[in-house]
Amino acid sequence: MLPFFTLLLSAATLAHKIPIFLLAGQSNMSGRGGVAGNSWDHFHLTPPPCRPTPDILRLSSRLLWEEAREPLHADIDVHKTCGVGPGMPFAHAVLAGGSAPAPLGLVPCAVGGTAISEWGRGRRLYLNLVRRARAAVEKGGILAAVLWYQGESDTVSKVDAEAYGRRMETLVWDLRRDLDEPDLLVIQVALASGEGKYVDIVRKAQKGMKVRNVLCVDADGLQLEPDNLHLTTGAQVTLGQMLADAYLNHTAVSSRFVRDL
Ligand SMILES: *[C@@H]1O[C@H](CO)[C@@H](O)[C@H](O)[C@H]1NC(C)=O
Repeated sequence: MLPFFTLLLSAATLAHKIPIFLLAGQSNMSGRGGVAGNSWDHFHLTPPPCRPTPDILRLSSRLLWEEAREPLHADIDVHKTCGVGPGMPFAHAVLAGGSAPAPLGLVPCAVGGTAISEWGRGRRLYLNLVRRARAAVEKGGILAAVLWYQGESDTVSKVDAEAYGRRMETLVWDLRRDLDEPDLLVIQVALASGEGKYVDIVRKAQKGMKVRNVLCVDADGLQLEPDNLHLTTGAQVTLGQMLADAYLNHTAVSSRFVRDL
């Protein structure tokens, strides 16, 4: 077992600020790749793009930076066994793309089985997301983007599915206001399927969202675990790369964060 160590970082010890990525949504963001039954085998199930490096940090549930390692959401999404999600492969790919300086900071906030109404302003998940984002900024970070993979739970009722687009837009504006980041980049994942029959309505809302600095990548076609519910480790690696490509293409155009650093 590797020693579990906490990096003692402060803004003063770094030449630049840590680009922060908030990870939010439900189980596929939290990560179930490699989970079988109630266990996850970390010695065998982490391919290179999921492995720890001192260049990728994670904000723990106790609001401390530490070297990130899978499962990223283990102390956040505590009611289920967590496995591989898109966060680590995303971070590796962003570093490889060279547009953000190391270290990067990942702030896991996703919780399995949650509907978008539970992420509304003032609700527990929302407050936790804002609190963790602020803590990350206070501890030497600068917000780079929110990665959002959610909506499966909103495919069960037609009313929820039809409200999805409006609720997501409200969430984006609320977050930007409360985090004092009016241009905050949000990259959402369009669902491939969901828990209910109204997947197409939610997908249409996700893919059609016309809000400045809100991007969408499509999970359609990614492989699911034998449970037919969650993305496999391989699919999460692909998704992390897709999210990173979206981020890198966007920052190549705006280069806002690079200038800020
Ligand atoms: C995970 O994502 C896949 C692909 O979008 C989707 O089919 C599945 O319903 C999701 N699972 C859960 C439990 O949200």
